[in-house]
Amino acid sequence: MLDLATGRGTFLDYLLDTLEDVTLAVGIDSIYGAVEAAREDLEDITVAQMDAGAMGFPTASFDTVSIANSLHHLEDLVAAITEIRRVLRPGGRFILSEMFNEDQREAQQSHVMLHHWAAAIDRARGVYHDKTYTREELLVLISALDLHDVKTYNYTEMDADPLDPNKIAKLDQTIRRLMDLTSGLEDAELLQQKGEELRKRIHTVGLQSATQLLVIGYR
Ligand SMILES: C[S@@+](CC[C@H](N)C(=O)[O-])C[C@H]1O[C@@H](n2cnc3c(N)ncnc32)[C@H](O)[C@@H]1O
Repeated sequence: MLDLATGRGTFLDYLLDTLEDVTLAVGIDSIYGAVEAAREDLEDITVAQMDAGAMGFPTASFDTVSIANSLHHLEDLVAAITEIRRVLRPGGRFILSEMFNEDQREAQQSHVMLHHWAAAIDRARGVYHDKTYTREELLVLISALDLHDVKTYNYTEMDADPLDPNKIAKLDQTIRRLMDLTSGLEDAELLQQKGEELRKRIHTVGLQSATQLLVIGYR
């Protein structure tokens, strides 16, 4: 199995606990810091620094290819989709998990807004980070993979209290850390104002994980 844009490996770890048929997994990420973090967190998994749009793997070399929470981080989506088609063997399984930005409850919308604010800060720092997509946009993007037997699910964790004080305290820390990244940027004032509005919103309506689209289909 190959996991693209592994980050520190949270989703890959979850998949490895869930998919009983996976015996060998590889993760890739374009940023060395993420590769190092994933190597630390995931024992027995090979993690390589590689661009999802130009992978060094042979054609049809994986039974499963997954990507989570990352389509909106990929600067060249066409290249990445082309590469997924190439390295996934015919009949192989593709798994996508990605939040979408519409039809969310009020506290979930705070999650979407936090994401979009963080993405705006990244862009201002010259790091590619798009807004999240709509559910329909995600389905159109992966239609280029020509999958069959596609199953789609919406999933979310609605149990958590959106105003849980511990969670709010952690979010305050996250917002402070992101605010710090804005100092010296041309749009710092506007970005900080947005951050402050977001902080107030989170203290009022709270935050819950946005609903994710899970897609499983076969090449
Ligand atoms: C939100 S994180 C991924 C989180 C992880 N997949 C998870 O769900 O646990 C997005 C990752 O995409 C990576 N990334 C961005 N562009 C990439 C590219 N062209 N090829 C590979 N990884 C890329 C970033 O370095 C970052 O680690």
